[in-house]
Amino acid sequence: MAEHPAYPVGLRLTGRRVVVLGGGQVAQRRLPALIAAGADIHLVSPEATPSVEAMADAGEITWHRRPYAEGDLAQAWYALIATSDTDANTRASAEAEAHRVWCVRSDDADAATAWTPATGSSEGVTVAVLTTKARGRDPRHTAAIRDAVVEGLRDGTLVAPHHRTRTPGVALVGGGPGDPDLITVRGRRLLAEADVVIADRLGPRDLLAELPPHVEVIDAAKIPYGRFMAQEAINNALIEHARQGKSVVRLKGGDPYVFGRGMEELQALAEAGIPCTVVPGISSSISVPGAAGIPVTHRGVAHEFTVVSGHVAPDDERSLVDWPSLAKLTGTLVVLMGVDKIGRIAETLVAHGRSPDTPVALVQEGTTAAQRRVDATLATVAETVVAQEVKPPAVIVIGEVVAVGPRGTA
Ligand SMILES: C[S@@+](CC[C@H](N)C(=O)[O-])C[C@H]1O[C@@H](n2cnc3c(N)ncnc32)[C@H](O)[C@@H]1O
Repeated sequence: MAEHPAYPVGLRLTGRRVVVLGGGQVAQRRLPALIAAGADIHLVSPEATPSVEAMADAGEITWHRRPYAEGDLAQAWYALIATSDTDANTRASAEAEAHRVWCVRSDDADAATAWTPATGSSEGVTVAVLTTKARGRDPRHTAAIRDAVVEGLRDGTLVAPHHRTRTPGVALVGGGPGDPDLITVRGRRLLAEADVVIADRLGPRDLLAELPPHVEVIDAAKIPYGRFMAQEAINNALIEHARQGKSVVRLKGGDPYVFGRGMEELQALAEAGIPCTVVPGISSSISVPGAAGIPVTHRGVAHEFTVVSGHVAPDDERSLVDWPSLAKLTGTLVVLMGVDKIGRIAETLVAHGRSPDTPVALVQEGTTAAQRRVDATLATVAETVVAQEVKPPAVIVIGEVVAVGPRGTA
């Protein structure tokens, strides 16, 4: 007999009875999607995995703690047969057939009347990949195709222009600390849709090289002590391009709201009546120490971490940081923009009670190919920075956490 291809369909299961036989790994994998579909799920199984049990405890499914019995499928719209007892599976699928209930079988795809596709979602679209015929089914292959499509849609490498609703206005995107893989999926997608990108020096610069030629890339480089594009000029550029109806991405290093002036830009856009989306990013304050093998907290060592800006010295009247109080804390201190002032910062911390032996690490260009870690103590850090020629951007970590990991674990 000729083998016909399966007919793909989307079941709308909200409030409809779905019977699942067997509470093992197969059920555990399939149940979340059935729950998400709003199905009235009845699990029939003497045992269940802890995760499946948790779903029953949470009231997401109704669990009948017994083996399959004739009649279980009578009221079902759809069934998943996945017990470890082949005989029970066969009897259950005969019952499903008799009641015209579509059923999947984990142990025998040939005997099933339905197959579960490999699925994934992106932006309100479900991608379902189904092998055409039972013979030669290769679930890994279908899963790989699903992954390729979903990942492509998410990161923007697979663009479906006619179906994509472009985000109007400006997106303030936190690009992460520098490694192009450390931007969020949403940030990556918005970047792929952009007409104009206004980028900082910090953040995932490599991603800019991948943008198609029609995308205008504007350098908003705020290089410390070097070239400087005034914040107002950046705000104006954002507003101007958005007013031309373009999709504008403001690509920032780390997270837009951690010493990133994100709120200033958002306020300027709001005043100009331009819609603005903010996409969080992985901040260098946590990820750069991590990339150099330093956890900002560690059980029994540090129960807190404080992130401070070191761009003005402790005795500078513009400083909003209470350094004497910070010196009394026992946890981790993470200093951003502090390379130039670290000598004065270390002095102040020691003067107010922090031990001069407190370990310090400076992590320069974290998560990039040029990453470099230099270790010191509060007593030696000023001379070490000079001797080792540590340059911004660097994250400075002060505290016992610096010493917990084996060096070079990053
Ligand atoms: C203006 S702040 C912006 C911080 C950013 N919004 C964040 O969340 O990471 C710039 C400072 O962040 C730190 N920084 C950012 N990226 C870094 C990296 N890849 N390596 C070391 N330090 C970095 C440096 O201290 C730098 O001077």
